[in-house]
Amino acid sequence: MPISLDYTFMLSDAVSGGVAPDVFAATGAAFRSAHASVESRRRSGELGFLDLPTNRVLATQVLEFVVATRGVYRDVVLLGIGGSALGPTALRNALRPPQWNMLGAESRGELPRLHVLDNVDPVTIAATLGRVQLAETLFLVISKSGGTAETMAQYLVVRDRLIAAGVPLARHLVFVTDPTKGALRPIAIAEGIPALDIPANIGGRFSVLSPVGTLPAALIGIDIEALLAGAGDMTRRCNTDDLATNPAGAYAVLQWLSDSTGGKRIHVLMPYADALRDIAAWFVQLWAESLGKARADGEHVGPTPLPALGTTDQHAQVQLFMEGPIDKTFTFIAVDSAGDDLTIPGAHADVPDLAYLGGHSLWELLDVERRATTGALAARGRPSMTLLIERVDAWHVGGLMMFFEIATAYAGALYGINAFDQPGVELGKRFTYGMMGRPGFDAARAEFEALPQSNAARVIR
Ligand code: PA5
Repeated sequence: MPISLDYTFMLSDAVSGGVAPDVFAATGAAFRSAHASVESRRRSGELGFLDLPTNRVLATQVLEFVVATRGVYRDVVLLGIGGSALGPTALRNALRPPQWNMLGAESRGELPRLHVLDNVDPVTIAATLGRVQLAETLFLVISKSGGTAETMAQYLVVRDRLIAAGVPLARHLVFVTDPTKGALRPIAIAEGIPALDIPANIGGRFSVLSPVGTLPAALIGIDIEALLAGAGDMTRRCNTDDLATNPAGAYAVLQWLSDSTGGKRIHVLMPYADALRDIAAWFVQLWAESLGKARADGEHVGPTPLPALGTTDQHAQVQLFMEGPIDKTFTFIAVDSAGDDLTIPGAHADVPDLAYLGGHSLWELLDVERRATTGALAARGRPSMTLLIERVDAWHVGGLMMFFEIATAYAGALYGINAFDQPGVELGKRFTYGMMGRPGFDAARAEFEALPQSNAARVIR
């Protein structure tokens, strides 16, 4: 069953705070232009993520590596940050049984655990390195640029540990990086460390379907062929400038209109399935880093993405969603079939507050709560849409991720910004390099030191 997008409750004939149907209909021309702009960038070779579903070379490299190393490692530790970590984490948590790393070998078979280190907090790093047997561990160093300070620092720590333990680097390290640029590639060549490519025309947050995501996924037994096939199906469905049939197009247009004409600046993504919780975290980076930009005309644009989880956040954020400012849209992800469902046993017939639950199933409760929340938000004029997938499997997750990536590309064109760069993160990086003594960054250090510094008189101790 293909992924469907139900946007009934984004329109003002259903929900008072929604987009007027005639305004939506009138954006056909703006969407055609956004689609043409994305197509033209694709044709000029800028948008490599769209070609990943059919890139047999990369998929084959990954699968060959995985077959050659099956059963060799008990643990895989991924060193990476941003797009190099969020996608692999989302894939593991969506497509492996819950708490994969906690399962014993009798449940995982010969498949390894997958730990993702996406920060430089020494407490986490030391704890993880202290828990694994280095001689049975594979470290994936994933960095498109091959120079990100956090990932390089992690790599240096790990490398030192491997050398101290007498473990051969070329058997316990794999790099996933740009084919030619960055610090990792020459090290791989000089030291015989296996290295897989992230195509030059794919940036970090659009890289989940490259070896950035497919290598760790395949190592823990996820069906990456199905993942890529689902993504390919979505790519084909979105290969049209007809807003009525292009799901990522409709999503992008409705979000953009809601923000730019309706003041809905916060875009909540709320899956109703624990397995998809980290898809929302992955989406946050994609939507925020791609769309939050200073436009050429001096305007600062970009919606703020907000992750939530149903039903958990009904007891945390939904009060705000219902009665706080009317500045949000909601996208629910619903799953049609539960997989393993549990019937709620009937008991306490004399306690009405409990007895009504008996005989229903937990999945039914989850789904009813999603529909109830959609209705409650609609009754308060708060627009929402629902992505429906048949089940949480590799095909549907691949399709979902490609859906959001294509929607992001369209949204960039609609907002009039470049969705594929991130100039705003550069200044902080330069200050860091300056303060850490990186050659060539003395001026950045001086610039930082010339900024106002913390005033002791204003620190309350
Ligand atoms: O989307 C992006 O480009 C960034 O968020 C990167 O993923 C992040 O900065 C890590 O970069 P790299 O993969 O080059 O280490």
